[in-house]
Order: sequence, then C-alpha cells, then structure tokens
Amino acid sequence: MTRQRVFSGVQPTGALHLGNWLGAIRNWVDLQKTHETFFCVVDLHAITTPHNPKELSENTLSTAALYMACGIDPELCTIFIQSHISAHSELCWLLNAVTPLNWMERMIQFKEKAIKQGDNVSVGLLDYPILMAADILLYDTDLVPVGEDQKQHLELARNIAQQRINSRFSVKEEPIFKIPEALIMKEGAKIMSLVDGRNKMSKSDPNDSSRITLLDPPELITKKIKRAKTDSLTGLEFNNPNRPEADNLLGLYSILSGLGRDNVSKECEQMGWGKFKPLLADATVSALEPIQTRYKELIGDKAQLIDILKDGKNAAEVVANSTLNKVRKALGLLDRH
Ligand code: TYM
Repeated sequence: MTRQRVFSGVQPTGALHLGNWLGAIRNWVDLQKTHETFFCVVDLHAITTPHNPKELSENTLSTAALYMACGIDPELCTIFIQSHISAHSELCWLLNAVTPLNWMERMIQFKEKAIKQGDNVSVGLLDYPILMAADILLYDTDLVPVGEDQKQHLELARNIAQQRINSRFSVKEEPIFKIPEALIMKEGAKIMSLVDGRNKMSKSDPNDSSRITLLDPPELITKKIKRAKTDSLTGLEFNNPNRPEADNLLGLYSILSGLGRDNVSKECEQMGWGKFKPLLADATVSALEPIQTRYKELIGDKAQLIDILKDGKNAAEVVANSTLNKVRKALGLLDRH
C-alpha cells in the first residue's frame, strides 16, 4: 500500500524557536514513521524580507542540522534545500500567472509583515504564499504539518490547486494536483511570546526575550523565563481569556514536561509564579538538552550534512520534476525534452 505524502518546511531566518519545534517539527518526527515525508529548508522564502547573505547560508545548514537534532531521520525522510530544486521557482511562476491578485492581498501574514516594513515591501513578500503552494503541490502532498498561523496559506494552496488549475486545465477529469490538507497539532500550534501572551512567538520579533530558541544555553533560558510577563494572581489556570500568559506558560510546561494538561492543571491550581517559573525553566532546559547535544555533533561534520542534503535533493527532484512537467504540459508549454 502506498503511504500518504507529507511535506513541510521552515525558513532559515535565524535560530528556530519553541514555536517552530512544538508547533511543527515535533509533529514531523511522528509522521516520518508512518508516512512518506519531505522536509525542506525554505531558503527562497527567507529572502522575501531583508536578509544578510552570509548568515543565510549558515542558517540554511544549521536549520537542516536542527531538523535532524530534533529527530528527523534522513534514513526515513527526504531532507533538502528549496533553492536546490529549480522546479519550486518554476512552478511558482506558473501559479503566479493564474492566481488573482486580490487573493494575495487578503493574506493576513502579508498584511502584518508589510505593515512592519513600511515602504520597503518586496513583490516576493506578496508572492510568498504562492511559492509555498508550489512547494506543497510539487510533491502530490496529502498532509502539511504546520502551526496555526499557516492555515490561511494552506487554504490558498488548496484553492489555487482546485479552482485555478484542476478545474480549468485537467483533461478527462484526471486532476493535475492532489488537494493537500493542513495538519495542525491540538497542543502547541500557537505558542505565544514570553513578553506578551497575546502575540505569537516569532523569529522576527526584535525583542530576543520574547522567544526561547532551541540553541539558547540553560542560563539564558532560565533568565528569559524568569523575566517572562505574568500577572499578579496566585493559582495558575488554563483557558482564562484574561490571563493569556498563564495559558501559554502552562501550555509550554504541559508539553515540555510531558505531564499533560490535566496533571499540570492540578499541580498548579494553588501555585504562585515564583514557584512555577523554576519548574518551567527546568522542564525547558531538560527538553532542549538532547537536541543541543545532537546539534553540536551534526554541525561539527559539515561534509556529512552536505552529503545528506545532496541525497535529499536527488530524491526530491525526481518527484518535483515529474509534477512540474505534468503542469507545463497541461498549460500548453512546448515540451523541452
Ligand atoms: P516559518 O519558518 O515562519 O515557520 C515554520 C513552522 O513553525 C510554525 N510556527 C509556530 N507554531 C506554533 N507557535 C508559533 N509561535 C509558531 N511560529 C511558527 C509555522 O506555522 C510553521 O509550521 N510559510 C512557512 C514555511 C513554508 C512551508 C512551505 C510550510 C514554506 N513552504 C510548505 C509548509 C509547507 C512558515 O511559516 O515558516
């Protein structure tokens, strides 16, 4: 029986944080055992906002190393770099040509990022979700494990595939693209900032204290948690809309300690922040320690990492080119072979 396909990716725009891990990568680790999985470092997405070229190549390699340090196993999955396969850019162009501009102008993430950048917004930023659709659709993907913030982008990919390609260009009811579905975790799909429980944890927040990265040393983790915004109430609880920080920090503790929400609710119902924060800091340090140890080994052997990424590229490219050729043909582009 053929296994369902899974595709996902993270941008190499700086160290990955707890949101990227708990909202997305953690889910990939489970899926690799049961599904056919493709995990990509999406470097072309990372240049849609101002970037530093030297840091980009370093971050690209370190993001791939972090995937593996988190448990992504190159023996089980295909790991590769987006820009190494030109089919991603080419399909993006073909999809650009059929996607209405007003679908793009509605994208929440575009509007949020555009506001932050004033008059320096690139066309690439507007196009970001179409490149993401191309990534997904090239692999006949069934499931896309992502955090909650990517829901709208997934909906767009589905609409482009169905309404703009399949329904217009399929011959004899044979769909060109498979219609993918988002896979969003019940817990961890939206990890919030440590300095404001109403904003999500994000790589682009200028305040470093707002996030814990997977490579933060233990003292820094403890310091960030100690400083994290809280309230003045004793007795910590989930799901109180007036206490977003309590919900977020308890949620983090529940996942990172492995205790689960019911146990954490009971343990913390009478607790004050002074007692809770060291517990959360210890759980975070312990959860990240094996990732950090493994990361150091992996990044110390760059030649091996590059080999893994070459193998990934070769395996992924066969699948991507086959889909691309199908779309080129359906759109009427002259065969190049
Ligand atoms: P990026 O790098 O912004 O985020 C990578 C993944 O992390 C999730 N995430 C979060 N989850 C929970 N809480 C948070 N605070 C948090 N912040 C980020 C994101 O939802 C995402 O799953 N556009 C994608 C990258 C991409 C992609 C793709 C993903 C490009 N092509 C194709 C899937 C399939 C993104 O958000 O990257």
